[in-house]
Amino acid sequence: MAIRKIARMGHPVLQGVAKPVPDPTAPEVKALVRDMIETMIDANGAGLAAPQVYEPWRIVVFQAPPERAPEEIDEEEAFDHTAPLTVLINPEIEILSEEREKGWEGCLSVPGLRGAVPRYTALRYRGYGLDGEAVERVARGFHARVVQHECDHLDGILYPQRMDDLTELIFETEAKAWLAAREPAGETQEENADA
Ligand code: NI
Repeated sequence: MAIRKIARMGHPVLQGVAKPVPDPTAPEVKALVRDMIETMIDANGAGLAAPQVYEPWRIVVFQAPPERAPEEIDEEEAFDHTAPLTVLINPEIEILSEEREKGWEGCLSVPGLRGAVPRYTALRYRGYGLDGEAVERVARGFHARVVQHECDHLDGILYPQRMDDLTELIFETEAKAWLAAREPAGETQEENADA
């Protein structure tokens, strides 16, 4: 296992379309995924896509911890809002609702910045795990957001390209000041994980 170097915005590996993985069970896929997980955890990220470690394959890892789910939802719905550490190979996304909402995102390939990004609020994703098993889940809220963010990396898209208002692209160090000036107190929560 090894912590890999993370590509930063501007490197062509982040701008290309990643290739489908021919065999999700191949040993070199396992080795790469291990490194991706170690790199993501070391960087305190919520997710990581293979192109971010200079590997142009359709592989993402992510997690959506319970503390990011809204508090007021019931148990059944909470299930869709959370995900354990997940490996998804050759992922596909099906949007379940046209509804979108803005939320703050960061990216390990765009260090130091935060942006408010509109994302679909509900989707279904399908792909394969490391043992070649089919993975299929419904995702909502932050879970849906992190999946969209990571899968965008596989198509060469970084979150600023999804933004509709670049005045909402800010340095993390200015987030408190920005929020204090723009939002009524308590309305918007600052997010702290990159992906
Ligand atoms: Ni990212």
